[in-house]
Amino acid sequence: MTRRRLAAGNWKMNGTGANLSELDALAKAHPTPGCDILICPPATLISRASAATPAQISIGGQDCHQNETGAHTGDISAQMLVDAGASYVILGHSERREDYEESDTDVRNKVMAALSAGLKTIVCVGESLSEREANNTLDIIGGQMAGSIPDVVTGDSLVVAYEPIWAIGTGKVPTLDQIGEVHDFIRSRLERRFGAGVGRSTRILYGGSVKPTNAADIFAVSNVDGALVGGASLSVADFSPIIAAL
Ligand code: G3H
Repeated sequence: MTRRRLAAGNWKMNGTGANLSELDALAKAHPTPGCDILICPPATLISRASAATPAQISIGGQDCHQNETGAHTGDISAQMLVDAGASYVILGHSERREDYEESDTDVRNKVMAALSAGLKTIVCVGESLSEREANNTLDIIGGQMAGSIPDVVTGDSLVVAYEPIWAIGTGKVPTLDQIGEVHDFIRSRLERRFGAGVGRSTRILYGGSVKPTNAADIFAVSNVDGALVGGASLSVADFSPIIAAL
């Protein structure tokens, strides 16, 4: 099965209006990209980014609330993301699991809310260094997938991002064998739970210190369908060669 690859940039808590020119430059550098391109800027920029960015670049959110509306100061619903022009949302990023103590159940509820609003979801999973060193990586990933991904996903609406926590923003990257082992495991779990259709059409991204220098090697690994890129997505100079490597 051919899966269209995805280069997703997560700007995290970086960027103001001045950074929107990066999106314009990115679009000019990739007028007819051979993969899907997604930028998830801070929520404050989604509306302007989606209005200003050519169609070959999708815009996404970095989180959403599980409810449609209500007394949740500071939160943003999936419907609000759609209204602002987002078509994707990242859910269950390890920084949110840690900073806001988001549980797998919280993530699953958010995924369901996002799907109901018509968003595609990028569900993040990944082990800590101590979990890897204790040889618990696959158990952790399997548990996060079982708890965070609801039954109602489709191959089009679900993207899974494998992000080892110890590789995020550290410059450390798992070996290609380690990446392949986890991605093959995620694929097999998807097929086992959802059947061949969803299991084989769901894209699996790698995230954690992806750079222009290592992207091509990582993208050659079995069942790596793209990347969720943090720091290197903030500048066209770094993100463009990563896109080109897909
Ligand atoms: O969402 C992106 C990841 O956390 C990766 O971040 O590329 O800065 O390591 P990084």
